[in-house]
Amino acid sequence: FHPSNRSVMGFEPNYDESKIPEYTLPDPLVTQSGSPVTTAEQWNTVRRPELLALFEKHVYGVSPPPCPIRRKHVSSKTVFDGLATRTEIDVLFGSADDATSMRMMVYVPKQRAGAVPAFLGLNFQGNHGVDDDPEIELNPGWFRVGRDGTTDGNKANEKSRGATASRWPLQMILKRGYAVATIYYGDIDPDFDDGFNNGIHGTLGDQVAHVAPESRWGSIAAWAYGLSRGLDCLEAETDLGIDAAKVAVLGHSRLGKTALWAGATDPRFAMVISNNSGCGGAALSRRAIGETVGRINEAFPHWFCDQFTEYNENEDACPVDQHELIALAAPRPIYVASATEDQWADPKGEFLAAAAADPVYRLLGTDGMGGDAPPAKMPAAEQPINSGVVGYHLRTGKHAVTDYDWQQYLDFADRHMKDGR
Ligand code: GCU
Repeated sequence: FHPSNRSVMGFEPNYDESKIPEYTLPDPLVTQSGSPVTTAEQWNTVRRPELLALFEKHVYGVSPPPCPIRRKHVSSKTVFDGLATRTEIDVLFGSADDATSMRMMVYVPKQRAGAVPAFLGLNFQGNHGVDDDPEIELNPGWFRVGRDGTTDGNKANEKSRGATASRWPLQMILKRGYAVATIYYGDIDPDFDDGFNNGIHGTLGDQVAHVAPESRWGSIAAWAYGLSRGLDCLEAETDLGIDAAKVAVLGHSRLGKTALWAGATDPRFAMVISNNSGCGGAALSRRAIGETVGRINEAFPHWFCDQFTEYNENEDACPVDQHELIALAAPRPIYVASATEDQWADPKGEFLAAAAADPVYRLLGTDGMGGDAPPAKMPAAEQPINSGVVGYHLRTGKHAVTDYDWQQYLDFADRHMKDGR
């Protein structure tokens, strides 16, 4: 996203805290009919399903039921001087002849005692953008026009090889004993508004025909659906050496929104990580600071379901807010990360959302953000809150994924996904 685009549609973002409208957050521990939720059982059987259905209906849209996948091995190779095995697998959605397929690229450390935990995340610029090995096929699909000469029209070119490598410090992750799996998000659903025809919207779309049109899955839901099918693949590929019960789903920005929705809808994900996910991700919509619901729906009409446009400049009317999305991951560990120069994504709103999810985590018997209560104040930059199961940090710098972010995720994962810790 380019800052100069922010006013393209006459939208001037507010960055002034004093101009935030007064708001009351919906209480995750009170049902729509007003009953307090005081036990884990009430959460699991009543409130959690209710919130999931509300997010489907009002925000992300309803996705089809899981389809069976088919898997085709493409390649397997030892990489990074013997550090890891890289395997590429095409995953097909369903059994139809015209099934959409996504290519998953998986790195597993060679040195391991048993099956290892893994990170699974979508990427923006193709698997060939994650690492510049020329043996990784240049993804032939549709790409957003790159700012840095990495595309010709809507096709990736040779310059895009390794273009997002800084976001994927593969060797650092592998050396810490984790596997990494990634998929180009455009394989699942190309990121433009085409009336929900291309990608899995087209090939699986008839399965949501019974859903009211305004509440059918948008692109974020489609990408999250792809992440779940990616997890199906990791579960089936037992020879890879990955412990599929310990897979953290992670994502940056729009793909951070996607990781949160995947973690909410698919409880098999053992951990959820949101990197700079902002509006429609970890940030509270009701704060209406930086990017707003109205702005995001106007700029990206295909990301959410149409019902979400009802809350343009009208956030209070939405029955849910994003702290409840975070709560839907409970009691599983979740980590929310912000960056100081990413005010568009409202770092403070991301922190407040994590803190407002804390009571649900505590009701479910965890220590939430740690200590006796969530911190009342947002932490300073580089002061991660990571003693509990809800982690948060603010990093100095721009909208990005850096080694610092990864170090926090790895430390957090060590605490929650490694045996004997
Ligand atoms: C835009 C958009 C954000 C999104 C970001 C991204 O900035 O407004 O909501 O998170 O793109 O995905 O890079």
